[in-house]
Amino acid sequence: MTPLGFLMREMKDNKKILVLPGDGIGPEVCKEATTVLKLVNEMHSLNLSFSEALVGGSAYEVTGEPLPQDTLKAAHESDAILLGAVGGPKWDELDYQYRPERALLGLRSELDLFANFRPAILSKYLTSSSSLKANKVENLDLLIIRELTGGIYFGEKGRRDGGETAFDNCVYTRAEVQRIAIKGFELAMTRGKKLCCVDKANVLETSRLWRETVQAMEKDYPEVEVSYEFVDAVAMRLVQWPNSYDVLITENLFGDILTDEASVISGSMGLMPSASVGTENALFEPIHGSYPQATDLNIANPMATILSAAMLFEHFGLQAEGKAIRDVVNSALEKGMVTEDLADGGKAYGTKEVGDWLAENI
Ligand code: IPM
Ligand code: MN
Repeated sequence: MTPLGFLMREMKDNKKILVLPGDGIGPEVCKEATTVLKLVNEMHSLNLSFSEALVGGSAYEVTGEPLPQDTLKAAHESDAILLGAVGGPKWDELDYQYRPERALLGLRSELDLFANFRPAILSKYLTSSSSLKANKVENLDLLIIRELTGGIYFGEKGRRDGGETAFDNCVYTRAEVQRIAIKGFELAMTRGKKLCCVDKANVLETSRLWRETVQAMEKDYPEVEVSYEFVDAVAMRLVQWPNSYDVLITENLFGDILTDEASVISGSMGLMPSASVGTENALFEPIHGSYPQATDLNIANPMATILSAAMLFEHFGLQAEGKAIRDVVNSALEKGMVTEDLADGGKAYGTKEVGDWLAENI
């Protein structure tokens, strides 16, 4: 698996890690990941300190808000955040401002976590778990970089005509496109030197701004081969020729959709970690969400959260620590020490058993 050394920040003493377990399976997967984080912290004398706070529906239950001020303050003061998941049917009827998802969006925008890295890597032990035929996905290793603080998610939204008309505006500035494109180019330079700019420039004005901005930057990265593709075509090619891609950059909503698609191509949604990086803070979370039906059943796959912890270490330049986690996850996959999403008819272990095994064997 490719180390994500690009996220590197200088390691200073006493990094503060804030754990936000959240809702649904969030607390269970966070518990396993935190155990691994703490273990690596001790084994390598890293001097990380840990604290925990409420977020999402579980925060709403206690404080009346999905992102309480205390949590936001702790987030600002932390160096990195490990988040489980937010949301669940219990809160579906709440007004938009109280919905658990607002906490996640609030953290992203308040901390300016504009660059979301979602690697889709297929372990050689999982070729048969991919939704695609083995020959299509062998050695799959692609990186989707999703813009996370702009676009339709954060544009003006509302209703008019007495509620009969609804709108969500999609807005991007050139500066927003440039800063995410820089990440794309830089990452491409450390990997296969191929960058795909995913847009819908045949229809959307924001996409035309994306395209012209990225085109103007090409001269600064002459070694990177850049392609421009429409999002509908990329959705198709991802299931047709996923290996033709290396690094993809895209706007917020397209990235949301394509990364769910990419996650099942790379074996299971339960395996895909993510890093959301800003200039000051960074947040690490599995992409799978709160999976409310599985809450407390001890069936959720903790690996995506544990691999998010690996990205956390790599973000601080701790490559060996990140690799130790990736390696132990890989040996669990090799030995079939997996939860039911990956069991493929074989024996399925519980969230806790998989977490314990990883902790014992790291
Ligand atoms: C994700 C999730 C979030 C998003 C939701 C929970 C708001 O689907 O991180 O991909 O849409 O960004
Ligand atoms: Mn999503």
